[in-house]
Amino acid sequence: MYNNEQTQELQATTTVFLQQVRQGGLSVEVLELLRDVLRFHEYRYYVLNHPLIADGEYDVLYKALEKLEENFPDLTTPDSPTQRVASGLTKDFPKVQHMVPMLSLDNSYNAADLLDFDRKARELSELPEVAYCVEPKFDGASISLIYDNDMLVRGATRGDGVTGDDITANIRQIRSVPLSAKFSQFGIQQIEIRGEVLMNKYNFKAYNDAQEALGLERLANPRNAAAGALRMKDPREVGRRNLEAFLYHVSEVTLLPGAQSESLLTHSGTLEMLWRLGFRSPKQEKRVFRGIQGVIAYCEAFEQQRDELAYEIDGMVVKADELEVQEKLGMTSHHPRWAIAFKFKARQATSRLIGVEFQVGRTGAVTPVAKIDPVSVGGVTVGSISVHNEEYIREKDLQVGDTVLIERSGDVIPQVVKAFPELRKGTEHPIIFPTHCPVCGHPLAKPDDEAVWRCNNSNACEAQIVERIVHFNSKDAMDIRGLGEAIVKKLYALNLLKDIPGIYTLPFEDIQKLEGFGARSVANLKAAIEASKKQPLYRLIYALGIRFVGENTSKVLAHHITHLYELKDFTVERLQELEDIGPKVANSIYQFFRADENLSLLKRLEELGLPFHNTKKELASAGNFSGLNFLFTGTLNKLKRSEAEALVEQNGGKIAASVSSRLDYLVAGEKAGSKLEKAKKIGTVKIITEDELLQMAAGETGQL
Ligand code: IVH
Repeated sequence: MYNNEQTQELQATTTVFLQQVRQGGLSVEVLELLRDVLRFHEYRYYVLNHPLIADGEYDVLYKALEKLEENFPDLTTPDSPTQRVASGLTKDFPKVQHMVPMLSLDNSYNAADLLDFDRKARELSELPEVAYCVEPKFDGASISLIYDNDMLVRGATRGDGVTGDDITANIRQIRSVPLSAKFSQFGIQQIEIRGEVLMNKYNFKAYNDAQEALGLERLANPRNAAAGALRMKDPREVGRRNLEAFLYHVSEVTLLPGAQSESLLTHSGTLEMLWRLGFRSPKQEKRVFRGIQGVIAYCEAFEQQRDELAYEIDGMVVKADELEVQEKLGMTSHHPRWAIAFKFKARQATSRLIGVEFQVGRTGAVTPVAKIDPVSVGGVTVGSISVHNEEYIREKDLQVGDTVLIERSGDVIPQVVKAFPELRKGTEHPIIFPTHCPVCGHPLAKPDDEAVWRCNNSNACEAQIVERIVHFNSKDAMDIRGLGEAIVKKLYALNLLKDIPGIYTLPFEDIQKLEGFGARSVANLKAAIEASKKQPLYRLIYALGIRFVGENTSKVLAHHITHLYELKDFTVERLQELEDIGPKVANSIYQFFRADENLSLLKRLEELGLPFHNTKKELASAGNFSGLNFLFTGTLNKLKRSEAEALVEQNGGKIAASVSSRLDYLVAGEKAGSKLEKAKKIGTVKIITEDELLQMAAGETGQL
């Protein structure tokens, strides 16, 4: 898409633009170039997964573009990077007809099936050997896109294959789908292309973790996450899912008058063309083979690597590479004869639901866990599966005794896909949700806006105490190895560990006598506990297990304080001004610091020497200003503006584009105006003088 020279040039322009934005702004003359620069960085990020600038720098340029377009609305184009974001909700999705029906593929499962496919292909094409292009079979939701005169004009779901839903607004949210592409360079006026939308495994996990932190429901698997997203009414919500699109098939082309398109002679050529136009097509993953033997070996080898990919694939697709041969082979009423799917071993299995256990987590949430007859699903034995909550059980109509279909996709936790009510014998019985905590017997409660039942006996419920200790020790929290769930449970039962502070006063002499413990493991445990006192503050905040406060929020909180107790003085409003903290999270943090039992816990932890201070090191890992955003206003006396900005950057800080709650310091010189007013209003921005900045840069103050 971009050759070396273009890459160098766009990168150089990026640097110049960033400088100019800092020095006051960009002029309208560079508007189109600025869009090109942003498109280039979107491509680097979303198609190549190899960005050349920091997210914050992209944001600065994006905001500059927004500002220019705001000032010159007539110059805004539909394919501008700002135009992905639609405002408002979609009312309904009009039905649209595909230019060519979207057929599905015939399946093969082994080498013999592929040999058979090849034999028929050779017979029908009357060729001694057929060339095949082999590529992954992406496991997502299929879409079709139409580009007309280089502009994306329509995006649709597969629907019934003949008609689908017009989901253009949602498709525009997928940043690896170009809003315009120079098909005209290939002699193409209009084109319909097919592909698959998916959510990669990392984004899926991150999305689900965020959902859980917000007390919302997790999504079952990446495929449903993608398919569900495409039909959402709020395009911005689609954006939040970070979807990706792979494009792998050209179904219809209209050439420009008099044009000939050589790229369209082979399937692999069309994939190359799509790649060159900035689409994510399976360029690296595809391979062309003469004859079927290489195809078989490649399919089998790829299956071994499927877990290493960032996204789910459920097989490979084998396609006759020459379009002329494809035409000769034709199609049946259901599927093309020129292509076949090679399906990987199913990671589904059936089993019997033998019972449900109710587990109590550290926040008191009661999770039903289905026990099934152990069954191997894609090489992993599964014996128990979370069935999430009451609603989920009702939706899937699960009963004890049912035959159930289990699925494990990639590293995603196994799920119950469905039950088979038609196989019921009459001996099954419904799953009864408990009314009282299965561990401590306290009555369960369920707030209206939540999906889960909870035991609110948090200070006395054994399950919650144990799980809180386990969370405190966990890898991303205080990272105390050797104090995992099984051991904490054991020590709790033996009365050797009763609460979190107890970790720091463990009776090691007694522990050493226990089965499974030796001098060595006790010494390691002691060392791990001691080391935890030197962890950064954010880990302690995370370890406290404040509801809705994940690792990220903990970092944000730590960043804004020098001592943990400062959080006691934060109001709900103040908390909400911090990055990514909404009302629910703010309220939970506020309440945490109001509860007596939490305050006495903190007091004991402080006495035990836990890291309550934010060390300067934490704030300034790469320089005094690392991770901090600065902005200047008014006239400086000692330094030129450019020198002052350079000073910030040399110390690892960043220059912000505008005053917002994300700004850490506003350096106010003489005659400071509206920026100063705005910063004062926000309240969390620290306002300092030029002299104070110089002192901080010299490391003369710990009060960052
Ligand atoms: S080609 C006319 N290529 O699998 C042939 N399909 O089971 C068009 N799929 O409906 C399909 N990856 O949604 C093709 N590399 C790939 C694919 C692929 C995934 C999906 C597609 C299709 C389904 C057939």
